Amino acid sequence: MKKVVITGVSGLLGPYVVDHFIEKGYDVLSVDITKPKKSTARFMTANLANLGECYGILQGADAVIHLAAIPVAYSHPNEVTFQNNVMSTYNILEAAAGLGIKKAVIASSESSYGVVFSKQNLAPQYVPIDEYHPQLPEDCYGLSKIVAEETANMINRRCGMQVVSFRIGNVITPEMYANFHNFIHDSNPRRTILWSYIDARDIAEACRLAIETDGLGSVTLNLAADDTSMDIKSNELMKAEFPEVKDIRVPIDNYHTLLSNEKAKKLLNWQPVHCWRDNIPNI
Ligand SMILES: NC(=O)c1ccc[n+]([C@@H]2O[C@H](COP(=O)([O-])OP(=O)(O)OC[C@H]3O[C@@H](n4cnc5c(N)ncnc54)[C@H](O)[C@@H]3O)[C@@H](O)[C@H]2O)c1
Repeated sequence: MKKVVITGVSGLLGPYVVDHFIEKGYDVLSVDITKPKKSTARFMTANLANLGECYGILQGADAVIHLAAIPVAYSHPNEVTFQNNVMSTYNILEAAAGLGIKKAVIASSESSYGVVFSKQNLAPQYVPIDEYHPQLPEDCYGLSKIVAEETANMINRRCGMQVVSFRIGNVITPEMYANFHNFIHDSNPRRTILWSYIDARDIAEACRLAIETDGLGSVTLNLAADDTSMDIKSNELMKAEFPEVKDIRVPIDNYHTLLSNEKAKKLLNWQPVHCWRDNIPNI
């Protein structure tokens, strides 16, 4: 049985990734700095900002899924967010390389494009935003994710480790669909995330495919659902909130996602299957 280490398991996304890997027959070691409320896998406490602890948790593993991070800007002093996220990712990949681990997944973010936490109302240069879109964060969190992606590239050059960096859209767990009626008719609250969402179970599937697929090198992949989280058509959302954006690269007269998921679908043979429209009655 293949052994996978999953970090960040006491958070929002981690438990879904752990459950998915267990269901698919993996031997899972789950890791976090705080204990999970409920644990379906063997758990170890570690602070990943410490390299020695990363070596300790990764002993004997075939792959690592690194989700642990401070997941937003401005919740902590900037340097705390930057240091925690950058050093934990560096240490995980450094230790994985030292132990000869061949495959890793790290959580990057749509925030790395810069629109999400911009205080100057940065607009996307074009939509849907794909992986070629410039990354222009003004904040410590977005920058920490760019450094994480560059760390992945460096480790891949050094030892050939396959590292998939997922630029994840807004994570939604099944119970969160009950809140959707609060925003689906108002373009404003979710404008900076370009109305993206992605079900945690679809992310879990993508993580497994990233470990099971060969030949990816170091690659960045957006993860988003096929549609937006809104009951307003995508062209109307753009006209309302980003009228200055004229470079629109696919037809968006339906609910088409504005965070492109095409590259992940193609390289991983992945298809997001959980759609908020199937989870809310009377839409
Ligand atoms: N939630 C989202 O919408 C979203 C969107 C894009 C990307 N992401 C990324 O996905 C990942 C998971 O996000 P989440 O929403 O589950 O976050 P979360 O805050 O709910 O969970 C993150 C977990 O990481 C742990 N952690 C942080 N620093 C640590 C350290 N130094 N050592 C050990 N554990 C540490 C925390 O204790 C926490 O349990 C993060 O990397 C985040 O940046 C999340």
